[in-house]
Amino acid sequence: MLVRIVGSGAMGIGIAQVFAAAGHEVELTDQEKEIAIKAKAGLEKQLARLVEREKIEEKDKEDIMARIKVTSATDDVSKIDLLLEAVSESTELKRRIFEDYDARCKDDCIFATNTSSLSITELAAGLKHAERFIGMHFFNPPAVMKLVEVISGEETSEATVEKVVELSRELGKTPVICREAPGFIVNRLLIPMLNEAVELLDLGVASKDDIDEAMKLGANHPMGPLALADLIGLDVCLNIMDTLYKETGDPKFRPSVRLKKMVRAGKLGRKTGRGFHDYR
Ligand code: CAA
Repeated sequence: MLVRIVGSGAMGIGIAQVFAAAGHEVELTDQEKEIAIKAKAGLEKQLARLVEREKIEEKDKEDIMARIKVTSATDDVSKIDLLLEAVSESTELKRRIFEDYDARCKDDCIFATNTSSLSITELAAGLKHAERFIGMHFFNPPAVMKLVEVISGEETSEATVEKVVELSRELGKTPVICREAPGFIVNRLLIPMLNEAVELLDLGVASKDDIDEAMKLGANHPMGPLALADLIGLDVCLNIMDTLYKETGDPKFRPSVRLKKMVRAGKLGRKTGRGFHDYR
């Protein structure tokens, strides 16, 4: 299968790795080619570390790298079987991308979005084939996390759901099927919990380290909620809370003011070196 991944941030490059490791040809694009080239170089370093730790063979690394080709949005798209978008969480930006590809891709190309909470129906509205539009939601880090949420919008066909479920299994993932709803399954449960951890911190109930330690040892989570928020990106967490709040109107989804302040200050977590914890 030929897969084009639009967006080469942490999710885009991680998803590229998953497809390439399963033997698919991947084309990786970003707004500027340089960004995708840099992301690919970062993946090569990560894979080299896995080779050093004897988790994978040198040959696996070479095969994965050879199957991922950096390309431009304007390059030939006529052979793409799956277009997977993993850009930042803006309905406007995502719609622009899908509209552009819609006019050029072959008729049976599946359009998938890795959105963490935006409306699949809204992203698909007005496209030639909304029945082939679907949410294919991976989790961070994509190479390690087993789950894929397969999300159908109002117009998504059963055949498309079945194809993406099958494909997810081929990738070695476990798919769960879900109808569109704000935050789908995981983020509707997970992100309010992370937001609540920020509230606890803000109220001075406990230190950041104790909040994290409590959930690691008391709930058997692999990492504490504040460390996890840093991994996901505080901007992404805030974006999801905003969507949950806006879509439901329910005050239980109100984003923490402290979370907003952190994002405004550019403390976005691991990707900027500073979040609730320091990564510099
Ligand atoms: N490719 C392949 N394998 C990799 C890899 C990569 N790029 N990176 C790491 N691995 C492997 C490692 O080799 C290791 O394998 P073994 O178990 O065989 O040793 C395993 O993955 C774990 O890696 P590490 O030892 O480096 O790290 P760790 O044990 O400290 O675990 C973690 C790190 C996987 C992130 C773990 O802390 C964890 O599961 N945290 C929770 C993550 C989570 O909840 N993610 C979901 C966020 S929500 C989301 O993403 C949705 C959204 O829309 C916001």
